[in-house]
Amino acid sequence: MYVLSSSENDKSELREQIGKTLDAVFDSFSDSSAFSGINPYELRKRIQAIDILPDHGAGFDKALEITKKEVLEHMLRTWSADYMPHLHSPALTESIASELIISIYNNSMDSWDQSPAATEIEECVCRLICSLIGYGKNSDAVFTSGGSQSNLAAITMARDAWCRKNLGWDAKMHGNPDSFRRLRLYTSGISHFSMDKSCHMLGLGWDAVVKLPVDSACRIDIRAAEEIIKKDVQAGLMPFCIVATAGTTDFGSVDNIAELKRIADRYGAHLHCDAAYGSGALMSRRYRSVLKDIELADSVTVDFHKMFLLPISCSAVALKDGSLFDSFALHADYLNREEDEEDGYVNLVGKSIQTTRRADAIKVFFSFLTRGRDGFETIIDTCIGNAAYFYSRIKDDSDFCTPVCPELSSVVFCLNRDDEVNRKVRRALLCEGTVIGQTVMNGHVMLKFTLLNPALTHEHIDNLIEKIRQTGSRF
Ligand SMILES: Cc1ncc(COP(=O)(O)O)c(C=O)c1O
Repeated sequence: MYVLSSSENDKSELREQIGKTLDAVFDSFSDSSAFSGINPYELRKRIQAIDILPDHGAGFDKALEITKKEVLEHMLRTWSADYMPHLHSPALTESIASELIISIYNNSMDSWDQSPAATEIEECVCRLICSLIGYGKNSDAVFTSGGSQSNLAAITMARDAWCRKNLGWDAKMHGNPDSFRRLRLYTSGISHFSMDKSCHMLGLGWDAVVKLPVDSACRIDIRAAEEIIKKDVQAGLMPFCIVATAGTTDFGSVDNIAELKRIADRYGAHLHCDAAYGSGALMSRRYRSVLKDIELADSVTVDFHKMFLLPISCSAVALKDGSLFDSFALHADYLNREEDEEDGYVNLVGKSIQTTRRADAIKVFFSFLTRGRDGFETIIDTCIGNAAYFYSRIKDDSDFCTPVCPELSSVVFCLNRDDEVNRKVRRALLCEGTVIGQTVMNGHVMLKFTLLNPALTHEHIDNLIEKIRQTGSRF
């Protein structure tokens, strides 16, 4: 078989290949740990020993056998309750099934004739995202490869809109204005590094990113922000964008969106809200208030491959004023003819940085349909509730220190020992198959739980606390 066809033989061959692949995956782990614990040198040696491009193909069964033997055992198992280092989630089972639909059809989202049903689904899901945020009828959204690309798209559109409005300058046509060295983007000192990357890619450089100080709850210090921006404006700098983070990568802290909107409005800046992490709270009646005022932001990043537990990659960027997507509009004779669009053939390439693009919205569609609002609410409430439980268990424990009360599902903490012990604890746990996070706060090594697995129980959290305590006592 080369590719799927309507022949029964091809269908049964694909069914068999998928079945065998699932068996190989299921056979590749026998315990509940997250990782085999193999060291990187040994793993590299084994993988490099594989002749990836043999002169003659090994065939499906042999390829699967090699993959099973050398690779699958050492894949990271995101579904393990012992995996919690990053904003990296296990995938809901039905969303894995929907990945099959996406891969089998292999539709591409750039033009309607490459993805008719998927285009209509993405548009519906985008309207739903806008309404969950609280946006009005002029809003619009598009799917992206992840939070970094959503942020890049938002910052690009913010730059374009600001230049058009304030300088009468068409940055899409002419690039950055002569005064570009004075353009500034303001964001928290603990916001995601995609802000720096975006400004680099836009030709503004890291110099354009001003990192604002945070308060004891790890939210932008509003008074300090006002002072810094005021002084910058007096010095001739041009604030084109402020980025609020709704769920910082380490702490899950959420900036005060209304206050940042007030400052943004005063200086005519675009307010972007990076809710790559916190957007999951849109699904929870209990925790929706964490995202208070999110509808005030001019644009919002929503990552479905974080709290929503959908497979990578799955993200969207939403705009209060959808006309800003014009930054990415371009017409190619071979792809997205204007005359087709006039007749209702929507070509989503006009809103996207990407051209060929996976039909990721199908995962959202399928999982939302499967679980409904209450199903997602349970997931979000359980994960945030687990973080609150973990925090409550260690906050008065003299062996531990945990400086920030969690708003979402991350808890930063450390053993009350020196940095080296905390570092060694994380490394020792990794070698035993328990993968926890590590970061730095105020110059000190901290450990981190990012709790995105709703299957995690309080009992398991209790066991992890003891495991960390005992591991620390070995050093
Ligand atoms: C707050 C925040 N924004 C953006 C991103 C980037 O998202 P992605 O990894 O999907 O590009 C992350 C990643 O963890 C994040 O934590």
